[in-house]
Amino acid sequence: MSIEAPKGTHDVLPREWPAWQRVLDEAERLCAAYGYRRIVTPTFEETELFARSSGEASDIVSKEMYSFEDRGERSLTLRPEGTAQVCRAYIEHGLQREPQPVKTWMVAPMFRYARPQKGRYREFWQLSVEAIGCEDPALDAELIALQHAWLKALGIEATLLLNSIGDRACRPAYLERLEAWLDEHSSELDAEARHKRETSPLRVFDTKNPELAALLEGAPTIGDALCAECREHFEAVKTFLDACGVAYEVAPRLVRGLDYYTRTAFEFVAPGLGAQDAVSAGGRYDYLVETIGGPPTPAVGFASGIERIVLSAGESEVGKDGTDAFLIAAEGADRVLMVKILEELRENGLAADMDYASRSTKGQLTQGQRLGARCLVSFYSKSALLEWVGSGKYRGEPVTPFDEIVKNVLAGPRGDLL
Ligand code: HAM
Repeated sequence: MSIEAPKGTHDVLPREWPAWQRVLDEAERLCAAYGYRRIVTPTFEETELFARSSGEASDIVSKEMYSFEDRGERSLTLRPEGTAQVCRAYIEHGLQREPQPVKTWMVAPMFRYARPQKGRYREFWQLSVEAIGCEDPALDAELIALQHAWLKALGIEATLLLNSIGDRACRPAYLERLEAWLDEHSSELDAEARHKRETSPLRVFDTKNPELAALLEGAPTIGDALCAECREHFEAVKTFLDACGVAYEVAPRLVRGLDYYTRTAFEFVAPGLGAQDAVSAGGRYDYLVETIGGPPTPAVGFASGIERIVLSAGESEVGKDGTDAFLIAAEGADRVLMVKILEELRENGLAADMDYASRSTKGQLTQGQRLGARCLVSFYSKSALLEWVGSGKYRGEPVTPFDEIVKNVLAGPRGDLL
């Protein structure tokens, strides 16, 4: 029996890569424009890091972690998300001594043992962007504006849902009210909500059950219970977003699946993705650095699922692979000479290729066209013919002696062939 990729994982095939490339190129360009620098962290960490940061009761920690013991009997976990790692690196390398905020981005695979469905994988890629060390609401707005610019550049029409979920000062009193309300309605709650009520009541709002969602319309919301500082911070985030021209919908019941969030919480949702419609999400996490042993350090960030972004961006404007020259072995061609010239073209920075599948001359021509080659070079026994693509079809330049091929290909087509 043949072996297939593990359930919930996927391959990105060469023909799919141009779409990924475009998404990642835009991300890299925009992160640089907004002043974020790349960070690379390990694929696995001590289990304790995620257990402490995400919250024992979160789905990630309670059911989704890929944890294992290594040969030295340490408990390790394949990263389910990147934020805790960046905070760990921030503390470990004393980044609080650098100018604040420390602004980082990374693109990396994440691992969660969830039920696979459209847009939900067990290994998936995230763009993860963090700004650590400042509580300025302009920073929350900057990160949201960055996502907005990225989605716009990719032609994705997503809706931004925005909320504030308070902090240590105002959340405890609100939670008491919420718990009292949940107790009053306990017979109407589903099993999942009853479980969350016991462990992390705010996450009761994170439900896909429409009946429960309707019931929760009547529950007290955190927005009505914010303390003066949180309210002021939230108002400032909105003012800065207005200044950036980013539209949002205030969503008073929006909560996040991880326990580390404070104040700003947001999600970009895109149509056409079914149940897993969040293409990008995040918020402020002012206590996370402290929770894992660092000094009190406010921070804000977001992460986007690259698969969902690629799915939403669709095929639009994805070009061919961009072969510059394709060499064709015609009647009497010397393949050794062709290989030499191929190398020279590549040394000069061109993407060049030839046939390795014993195709007929016609077959080679088709292959060159399939690769979108700008120039086809047919080798005969004593000379070569260059053909250039212009206005949709290939047009030939006069025969070229071998020692002129590289120069002529580099020079591009003659004016009358354009
Ligand atoms: P998250 O909401 O768990 O947040 O994930 C962020 C995004 O990753 C989601 O909106 C979705 O696009 C994508 N995603 C999550 N799980 C899957 C999956 N199983 N398959 C495919 N895509 C998925 C975080 O991870 C936080 N670290 C975000 C953050 C950064 N908050 C502050 N800084």
